[in-house]
Amino acid sequence: MLKSMLLRLAVVGIVTLFVPAVLYAAGKHEGLNCTGCHGIHTAQGDIIFAVAPNKKVKNPRTNKPYTGITSLCLGCHETIENGGMGIIPVSPSNSHPFGVKPDPKVANVPKAFLRDGQLECVGCHDPHPSNPNYKYLRVDTKGGADMQKFCAVCHSSKGDVDITKVEVFSSMDERKASRKSKLVEKPAAKTKKRK
Ligand code: HEC
Ligand code: HEC
Ligand code: HEC
Ligand code: HEC
Repeated sequence: MLKSMLLRLAVVGIVTLFVPAVLYAAGKHEGLNCTGCHGIHTAQGDIIFAVAPNKKVKNPRTNKPYTGITSLCLGCHETIENGGMGIIPVSPSNSHPFGVKPDPKVANVPKAFLRDGQLECVGCHDPHPSNPNYKYLRVDTKGGADMQKFCAVCHSSKGDVDITKVEVFSSMDERKASRKSKLVEKPAAKTKKRK
């Protein structure tokens, strides 16, 4: 009991050391504030990622470390002993498969959700703060109550869902978003002192 409490305290200490304090501000990814995931001049990996890829935890299907975006997510979402930061750890050994080339008999994955031909975390989640869905899933599942609507995106023969009516969220094409703000240039006299 005491031992596990001490361990938890130690874990929290380590996480606080490595993760920007701002991270806890809003709890979820909003608190990461863009630069928590994208290191503008301090990139550690692809897509100027702020967190080093997890090279420790292995994909049970290949017995090799994960690659691509999955290794970036697991840089935070794994236990510290498995190369992550202990933030809601996702353990590959008891999870739905990721880092896999889909067997089309098991799953019919829309091309837009594959990365280098593989299902990665972002096949199911769009992690950007603009995603309003429960657990950053790509489909609105009404807080998890309508999960089969989400599963149907890739496993439509299994559920009782009209797949033609399922809307899928993606933040990855700026041409589809409308720019609401107008560029307003402030005259120098009106700008305040730099904070
Ligand atoms: C939780 C981590 C996380 C946060 C927070 C985050 N991003 Fe991302 N970002 C990603 C990941 C992962 C991808 C790749 C997604 C994919 O391939 O589907 C990405 C992709 C992008 C891309 C596209 C790169 C490309 O090559 O097309 C841009 C631009 C971007 N993010 C900007 C932002 C901005 C701006 C913010 C803040 C509003 C932000 N991100 C917050 C993880 C994050
Ligand atoms: C910089 C660290 C970091 C990275 C990288 C990161 N996350 Fe997160 N994630 C967090 C934090 C912090 C939370 C909120 C933890 C909490 O609520 O206790 C979170 C929460 C989540 C949640 C739960 C959201 C909810 O509403 O409960 C999901 C889902 C998630 N992340 C998916 C991802 C995916 C997928 C990736 C990779 C694309 C990713 N995260 C990358 C830090 C990260
Ligand atoms: C096949 C789809 C799928 C894939 C692939 C997937 N997830 Fe998830 N994830 C889900 C679903 C569905 C939930 C919500 C489960 C629930 O609430 O019952 C979830 C929940 C989560 C949560 C929140 C758990 C909690 O206790 O609140 C995190 C964090 C997360 N996923 C991160 C990841 C990361 C990181 C990856 C890749 C390493 C990943 N997911 C891959 C579907 C997926
Ligand atoms: C974005 C696509 C996608 C979504 C959404 C998705 N899956 Fe999958 N699912 C896959 C892929 C890819 C595989 C691996 C196929 C293979 O073995 O090659 C898979 C495999 C599975 C398996 C077999 C696992 C095994 O170890 O053999 C089950 C069960 C499953 N999914 C259930 C679900 C459930 C339940 C949901 C909804 C909560 C869901 N999936 C959502 C793509 C998806």
